Amino acid sequence: MNELEMQAVAQIEAAKKQLGDDLVIFAHHYQRDEVVAWADSRGDSLELSRRAAATQARYIVFCGVRFMAETAAVLARPGQHVFTPRPDAGCILADQARIAQVEAAWAALTPPPGDMVPITYVNSDAQIKGFVGRHGGATCTSANAHDVLTWAFRHYQRVLFLPDQHLGYNTAHRLEVPDDDIAVWDPRFPPTDLARFQRARLILWRGACNVHVRFLPADVQQIRDRYPTARVIVHPECREDVVALADAVGSTSYIIRTISEAPSGSVWAVGTEEHLVARLRAENPDKKVLSLREPPPYCVNMSLTRVTDLARVLTAIVSGDKTGDKTGIVEVPAETAAAARAALDRMLEITK
Ligand code: 13P
Ligand code: SF4
Repeated sequence: MNELEMQAVAQIEAAKKQLGDDLVIFAHHYQRDEVVAWADSRGDSLELSRRAAATQARYIVFCGVRFMAETAAVLARPGQHVFTPRPDAGCILADQARIAQVEAAWAALTPPPGDMVPITYVNSDAQIKGFVGRHGGATCTSANAHDVLTWAFRHYQRVLFLPDQHLGYNTAHRLEVPDDDIAVWDPRFPPTDLARFQRARLILWRGACNVHVRFLPADVQQIRDRYPTARVIVHPECREDVVALADAVGSTSYIIRTISEAPSGSVWAVGTEEHLVARLRAENPDKKVLSLREPPPYCVNMSLTRVTDLARVLTAIVSGDKTGDKTGIVEVPAETAAAARAALDRMLEITK
């Protein structure tokens, strides 16, 4: 640790002591160890949304990417404030659905009205969640996409799934939706011939996570050649041809649970972000934990938050500064927040 980091650690310790139960620090599993070490709670997107909805703390500091902090802000009660140490940490997947594109697609796809519902992965900004909430839809996470899509098909004939094509396809495949009933909407080149889209039961938005699409079928093959006993476990943001070859698929918390409960001596090749894979390796010294691909892919946005950023936010909170750049306070306009909340509440209700 260098001097700045040691100073940051001292500031964090002092701020935590001073703020006590008024403060809760959440961290996503992809955060650096130096940040995770200070989290009161770490989890996958679903767990963190649930805990954000339940916490009584006045100050919620969210270490992750922006859509996660925004979700906590939407779920916050009056008097609670949400901060993120790196407001510049976006999500490349979330950025692939813009509200104007979604509204244009919806207008093109929805005659007759009422038979279609939008579902959005939480990896989307508050405006997209608001759009979904206003049209009777729900958010989903990688842990509950199956339950949310099941709900959607029970109540509506057609579903528009935003913004992750692979999560949408992988979930539909588990639900045995035939390929003929699925169409992919590319917002960059909106189709002019809509007949196929008006027939499809599931319309997938053409978006993808640039970290997870780096895993390829050839990586699975290479691992199996080199480690014949290896089990391959991947996140559902991976391409469907990779998921088809894997032994298990699930959210970040599912991956952690599966590997921690596995027998000693087992070998795991993991298709997800490297900060989590490295932590799994360190926490399971009796097992062999490999990245499914070498060199392993990192999420640049998740990597941005450093212990010094966390210290800066906490120091600003202690000093009562809730306005400046130092705090990274996250605020969502009231009307958008109310609509986004409807979509998040619907998800929490479907999967409670
Ligand atoms: P989880 O919902 O599994 O935590 O994943 C979030 C994410 O951003 C994966 O890239
Ligand atoms: Fe977004 Fe992918 Fe990073 Fe997850 S890993 S935050 S989906 S860019």
